[in-house]
Amino acid sequence: ASTSKASIATPTKRALNGGSMPNGKANGHENGSGKKKRKLVVFDEEAEQEAADKRAGIQTNGVGPRKRAQMDPEQRKKRLAEAQRLKPQREALPVYAGREAILRGIRENDTVVVLAETGSGKTTQIPQFLIRSDIPRASPRVVCTQPRRVAAISLAQRVAAETGCVLGTTVGYTVRFDDRSSPKTRLKYATDGTLLAEMLSDRDLDAYDVVVLDEAHERSLRTDMLMGFLKDIQKRRKAKFAEFKAKGKQVANGNAGDDDDAQTKQPREPSELKIVVMSATIDAKRFSEFFDSAPVLYVSGRQHKVTIKYVDEPQDDYVDASIKTIVQIHQHYPPGSILVFLPGQDEIEGMVASLRAYLPDIEKNLAKKGQITIAPLFAKLPAAEQAKAFVPAGPNERKVIIATNIAETSVTIPGVRFVIDSGMAKEKRYHAGTGIDSLATEPISQSSAKQRAGRAGRESDGWCFRLYTETAYQHMEKRSQPEIQRVSLSFALLHLKAAGQEDVYNFSYMDAPSVTSIQGALHRLHGLGALGEKSRITPLGRQMAQLPLDPIFSRVLLEAFRQGCPREVIDLVSLLGVKDQLIINTSATREQANEARQKFTHRSGDHLFLINILRAYEELDGTDEKKAWCKDNYISYKAMQLALDSRKQLRERAERLDLGDWEDTLNDEPEPIIASLVAGLFANAATKQPDDSYRNMMTKQVVTIHPSSTVFSKKPLGIIYDELALTTKTYARGVSIVDPRLLPRQAPGVFNALRKQL
Ligand code: CDP
Ligand code: MG
Repeated sequence: ASTSKASIATPTKRALNGGSMPNGKANGHENGSGKKKRKLVVFDEEAEQEAADKRAGIQTNGVGPRKRAQMDPEQRKKRLAEAQRLKPQREALPVYAGREAILRGIRENDTVVVLAETGSGKTTQIPQFLIRSDIPRASPRVVCTQPRRVAAISLAQRVAAETGCVLGTTVGYTVRFDDRSSPKTRLKYATDGTLLAEMLSDRDLDAYDVVVLDEAHERSLRTDMLMGFLKDIQKRRKAKFAEFKAKGKQVANGNAGDDDDAQTKQPREPSELKIVVMSATIDAKRFSEFFDSAPVLYVSGRQHKVTIKYVDEPQDDYVDASIKTIVQIHQHYPPGSILVFLPGQDEIEGMVASLRAYLPDIEKNLAKKGQITIAPLFAKLPAAEQAKAFVPAGPNERKVIIATNIAETSVTIPGVRFVIDSGMAKEKRYHAGTGIDSLATEPISQSSAKQRAGRAGRESDGWCFRLYTETAYQHMEKRSQPEIQRVSLSFALLHLKAAGQEDVYNFSYMDAPSVTSIQGALHRLHGLGALGEKSRITPLGRQMAQLPLDPIFSRVLLEAFRQGCPREVIDLVSLLGVKDQLIINTSATREQANEARQKFTHRSGDHLFLINILRAYEELDGTDEKKAWCKDNYISYKAMQLALDSRKQLRERAERLDLGDWEDTLNDEPEPIIASLVAGLFANAATKQPDDSYRNMMTKQVVTIHPSSTVFSKKPLGIIYDELALTTKTYARGVSIVDPRLLPRQAPGVFNALRKQL
C-alpha cells in the first residue's frame, strides 16, 4: 500500500515544488489565449457555462433576478473586470503552480489527500480547477464542505468574484437556513451538516461528481460522519457506474428527484465519485490510511520564519496580557498587523472595549508609531463587520484583529506579522452528567498552537507571542481530540439510523466514540421517541432527522404540531437560535434595558418572554420604526432578522415535510408551548429542594437559575431550561416554569422510573 503512495507523492512533490507549470499558460479547459485578446475576460465563465449547458441539453428557463443580474451588460462588465483584477493574485498562490499535478492525482485515483499550509489556495482554487476539468466527466459538479457556516458563505462569495459570476449561479453555497445555489450551480460550498442532510434525499450523493472535504484536520463531528459514509458511497457509485457501462444505457439514478433539495433536475448519467480530502496539517497519514492508502499530494507553501516567544510566568488574565503585548509590539517592533487569538465572543468583546479605552493613551505616547485600529472576528459577527478584518491596513495604520480560532486555518487575514496566542479555545464538550453539550474554554493542542503561530509568517518573517510558558506548551495535547469523541452523539446516531446505518457501533469511524457515549445517545433518542424496538428508527425519528435542528428541538417542534401551537414554537425555536445576540445586555445598560423589556415578561418564564418580544416587533410597520423600537428595547435588529430568516425556512420545511398547518395557533396559552418544550427538554427539568436549591430530576445535579432569567426571583417548584452554562456555578439559562407533576405525562418513558421519587 505504501508503495503506491510513495510512487505518487514523490513525482508530485517535485512537480509542485519545482513550479514547472508556467503561469497563465493556455490549456484546454481554461481560457484559450485567442479569447483573451478580444475581450476583457479571464475566462468567460458564463459563456462557457451556457455552452456546456447546451452540450448537455440543459434548458435555462425563466428569467429570475439572478439571471437578470447575470445578463445586465454593465454589471457583467464589472464582474469580469473584478475577476481579471483577482487573476494575478490567484496565479501567485502555491496551489496554482501545482495545478496539473493535483488534477492528475485526482484523475488517476478515487481519493486523494491534499496537504498545504493555510493560505495556499486549497479551498478557493482546487474546486475551481475541478469544475473546469473533465474529471470524472465533462462539466463535473463539485461540492466543497466547510465545518463553519461563515467560511462557506465568504468562500463562495470570493470564488464567485474570482470566476466573475453572480453568486448562486455557477458558484453558490448552501448552509442551514440559507441556500444560494440553483440547478445550474457547478461548484457549491456547503457546510458539512448540509451535505449530510442532503444524503437523506440523495443517498449516494448522485448530484455531485466530486466531493471535496475541506478542513479535514479539524475533525468536526459532521466531517467525520461524512468520511465514514463516503467510503461506502464511493463503492456503490463505482458499482452503479460499472453496471451502467455494461448495459450501455441509462440506469435509474437513485435520485428521489421530487425533493427541492436535489441539485439536478435533469437526470444525469451515473459517474464515479471522486473524493478530495484537504488538510492544513502534516498529520495527513491518518486520512490516507482511512481511505485505503489514498495518495497524499503535498503543496509546499512559502512559510517564512516565525520567532516564538513565551512568557516566563503563567498569566491569569490573557486579555490584560494581550493588551500589554500589543503596546510592546507597537513600541518596539516593525509595522504589521497583529492577530490575537482569544477563546470566544465574550472575551473578544471585552478586549475590544478595554483596548478602545487604552487607545488614546497609547496613541498620545506613541504618536509617531501610527494609528491602531481594531477589528473583531468571530463566527456570530455580522458579515459586514467581519469584512473589516480582511481589509488591508493603510500606510500609517496598525491593525489589531481579535479573533477566535476561526482565524486559525479557515480564513486568511492579509498583512499579519504578529500573533498573540492566548493558548485557549472554546470547545464543545459533552457533559455526561447533564447530558448536554456546552462550550468550555480549554487549552488548545500543540498542533493548534503551531497553526496559530504560522499565521504570522505568511507574507514575511514574523513573531508569535505565546501567553503561556514553554512548559505549559510541552504539556499541551499533541493534537485536539476529534469532536466525535467529545460531544453528544444524539444528532449523529439519529442521522446514521435515518441514512440506513442500523448498526451504529460498527460504522466506519475514523476514531470511534466510546461505547458508553453511544449507549447514552441511544438512550436519549429512545427518550425522545426517535427510536423504538430493537433501537430501530421510528417514523417520528425519521421526521426529526429531516429537520435542521438538534434532535431535542426537532422533537419540541413536532410535539407542537400535536399540541396545536406550531406557529408559536417555530417562532420560539427560531429565536432560540439567536438568543445570545438578541437580547442586548452590557453592564453599562443592564438596568435601563431590563426596565424597558419588563413589559414583555410572561408569568411562565423566559420562553414566552421571547415570543412576546417577537409579537411586539411584528406589530410595527416599516424598517425605521422597527430599528428605533429595537434600540429603545435593547434588542438586536440584526439578530431579529436572522431569527425571521430561520423562521421562514422552518415554515417551508414544515410544509415540505407535511407536518401539518404551521399557522395553527393557540393565542396566549402557555401550557401547550411548555408541554412541547418538555417533550424535548425533559432531561433538563429541575425541582426545588427544601433548601431552595434546584436539582436536576434525572441526574440530581444542583443547578442555579441564572440571574438574567425572568424567573430568577420567582422560585417556582419546577423548571425546565434550554441551556446549562458552566461558569462559577452550574447555571440554568432559558428557564420556564413547569408543574413537576405534569412532567411524567409529557415524557412517560423516562419518568416512569422516577415516579417514586416525585
Ligand atoms: O484553503 P487555503 O487556506 O489553502 O487557502 P484559500 O482559502 O484558498 O485562500 C487563498 C488566498 O485567497 C488567501 O491567501 C487570500 O489571500 C485569498 N482569499 C481572500 O482574499 N478572500 C477570501 N474570502 C478567501 C481567500
Ligand atoms: Mg482553506
